Amino acid sequence: MAEIRTVGVCGAGLMGNGIAQTCATAGLPVVLMEVAQTPLERGMGSIAKSLDTFVAKSKLSRSDADAIFARITPTTEVKKLKDCDLVIEAIVENAPTKIALFKQLDELLAPHAILCTNTSSLCVIELAAATQRPHRVAGLHFFNPVPIMKLVEVVKTIATTQDTIDELFAFGRKLGKEPILAQDTPGFIVNRLLVPYLLYAIRLYESGLASKEDIDKGMKLGCGYPMGPFELLDFVGLDTTYYIAQIMFDEFKDPMMAAPPLLKRMVLAGRYGRKSGKGFYDYA
Ligand code: 3HC
Repeated sequence: MAEIRTVGVCGAGLMGNGIAQTCATAGLPVVLMEVAQTPLERGMGSIAKSLDTFVAKSKLSRSDADAIFARITPTTEVKKLKDCDLVIEAIVENAPTKIALFKQLDELLAPHAILCTNTSSLCVIELAAATQRPHRVAGLHFFNPVPIMKLVEVVKTIATTQDTIDELFAFGRKLGKEPILAQDTPGFIVNRLLVPYLLYAIRLYESGLASKEDIDKGMKLGCGYPMGPFELLDFVGLDTTYYIAQIMFDEFKDPMMAAPPLLKRMVLAGRYGRKSGKGFYDYA
């Protein structure tokens, strides 16, 4: 089984910077790539802030946090990923943009290198088919906040080989995550259950069954969930949830996956949740 020694991460947004931090925390050198300097610096800033939180909570020493940060090489050049054994793509959820990047990476990387996507909803096989190495392409789906959440979904396409899956399971464990095997269908395992639940909570609220505060309280205190559905919607992003729901509905035509009118209207109004300062709750 080939060892993953150097990791590349494409995209320094919420998921990308969390993945880069997690890999560096596991002792791996990481090349973090973004298309422009501003989002790259923002991503590195988020990593520094998260590491500071761990230091403040005495979960990391200052010197360990500094060493983790120093293991991450930020860049705006794709060619700097050349020597990576694994590249995890966490760029914008747009198939043509991801396909173009996969083609570029496929030409650049050594034949043994594995190419992964952190997509939450797009078809992994569509990205794999754009490369000459579909057997070395898989999904590696992390959860927000990546440095905290223990799960990673390893997504096997109809072309991914078992060797690749085994290497990714070993890699996930090296990161301190618990890997689970998912098939290449929209939502994989967790979002396939989570998204209909979140959409149903919106439907109940729309119907006047209860206030959003009471629905949140019900699920937190009644089921022990860390966040209620509306808090979680604001945390994940209403735009992201809407986008995933559309892809899931398009594939399965299951009414449970259809976006409720209120969700669409909130997205149209720019109320994306925490990231925009307002969603179901106010973060101003
Ligand atoms: N970096 C470092 N530490 C962090 C952190 C970060 N990015 N985010 C949270 N923490 C730490 C806090 O410092 C705190 O540490 P402590 O336990 O030592 O005090 C701990 O995590 C808990 O944080 P808080 O006290 O601020 O708040 P909570 O107790 O509410 O925990 C939470 C925050 C971990 C986000 C928790 O509310 C939670 O688990 N929420 C559910 C998250 C979830 O469901 N994520 C999955 C979303 S779906 C997804 O990502 C898939 C995608 O495809 C849509």
